[in-house]
Amino acid sequence: MANTAELSVDGKSYEFPIFEGTEHEKAFDISNLRDQTGYVTLDRGYKNTGATKSAITFLDGEQGILQYRGYSIEELAAKASFLEVAYLLIYGELPTQEQYATFETAIRRHTLVNEDMRKIFDGFPVSAHPMSVLSSLVSAMSAFYPDAQDEKGSEDRHIIRLIAKLPTIATWSYKRSLGHPTNYPKNNLDYISNFLNMMFALPVEEYKVDPVVAEALNVLLILHADHEQNCSTSTVRLVGSSQANLYSSISAGISALWGPLHGGANQEVIEMLEAIKADGGDVSKYVDMAKNAKTTGFRLFGFGHRVYKNFDPRAKIIKKAADDVLSKLGVNDPVLEIAKGLEEAALNDDYFVQRKLYPNVDFYSGIIYRALGIPTNMFTVMFAIGRLPGWIAQWKEMRETKEPIGRPRQIYTGATLREFVPIEKR
Ligand code: CMC
Repeated sequence: MANTAELSVDGKSYEFPIFEGTEHEKAFDISNLRDQTGYVTLDRGYKNTGATKSAITFLDGEQGILQYRGYSIEELAAKASFLEVAYLLIYGELPTQEQYATFETAIRRHTLVNEDMRKIFDGFPVSAHPMSVLSSLVSAMSAFYPDAQDEKGSEDRHIIRLIAKLPTIATWSYKRSLGHPTNYPKNNLDYISNFLNMMFALPVEEYKVDPVVAEALNVLLILHADHEQNCSTSTVRLVGSSQANLYSSISAGISALWGPLHGGANQEVIEMLEAIKADGGDVSKYVDMAKNAKTTGFRLFGFGHRVYKNFDPRAKIIKKAADDVLSKLGVNDPVLEIAKGLEEAALNDDYFVQRKLYPNVDFYSGIIYRALGIPTNMFTVMFAIGRLPGWIAQWKEMRETKEPIGRPRQIYTGATLREFVPIEKR
């Protein structure tokens, strides 16, 4: 392989090094492009731009491969616990038993949230979307732990706090939406059981965690834990590159995730499937509407991916899990059949085939969340709990590798210099 690339412009030629990653992805290193040529690149939506080198997650969109730190997503989903995967992403290696015990115990001990945060929470309207509450309260954590801003090098405490407290905060919105009291965490429970207990336990009766539910949630959280430089992760890195603290950076990531074209798609999918059901279940009508997206403005939510152009490996695992979980729980959800029908109709349609549009991670995840008893407006919150270790790992790597502050360029297309006209003459 050549190790330089030549660029010829205005009769002059320039050489740029070629960088090759460990999985043989190749990139032109144009770090000095503007200095040398006076030009910048124009790459809207960064479709061709590697914004960083990273040793955390590898994905190959053509082959449908996803690996965290070299471990396949299929193997991790089948064999690991979510906190093991969190440790792997953040610290680079699977934990030994001792490392795991220390990490897990620290998380158990930090689940309680400052009571003054409750007062902030009480100020939100009952109708507030749980994602707006989540991003606001995570941002507020930087006011409760101001040392996060000045501390250099001892970020572990903040990492533990965030992982420990996010589920606690997340459950508050759900409980209040029902008019039920919120539950305090129980530190004798493991991470997932503790979350389920805070979500579903009531003071008036015993709540026992169903192992089928806990296992399904473990898999879903692992599948969402990282996905290299997507919209929310790039946001976390960009905000963090100004040396903003961990809480502020993650809060920004939560906001980016909320959008319906990103993590918010899981809520949109269920709402779309419900609408199809209410409309008589005719999937072809919706496939046609999506094919005319330019005029109808309608897209099939849960379909298509910026990177995966063959299949999304997470969707494969989740589709199978949806069948397993629903049958084990004895849930018969008619939208599962509608989803399968929609998938089949789209996969046999030229429009979707030509554009390489396949079901993504969000297409079946909502059906599982629903079977677990998690309400639709909490789906993206579940995504955020899953994605947190990935955001943290990326933020930490960005600091450790001393990435420069993020500051893309632009090509200006506005008015050229003109004279100011006083208001009375306009
Ligand atoms: N339904 C109908 N048409 C679509 C869809 C869809 N879901 N997705 C893309 N297209 C069409 C699009 O109209 C365009 O057609 P044309 O070439 O004729 O203009 C072509 O496919 C390429 O679309 P694009 O928007 O340029 O593709 P992208 O790679 O920039 O967008 C996407 C990726 C995920 C934003 C997009 O596929 C989409 O909007 N999907 C629906 C929302 C969704 O499910 N998001 C969750 C993504 S996975 C979770 C995560 O973000 O982590």
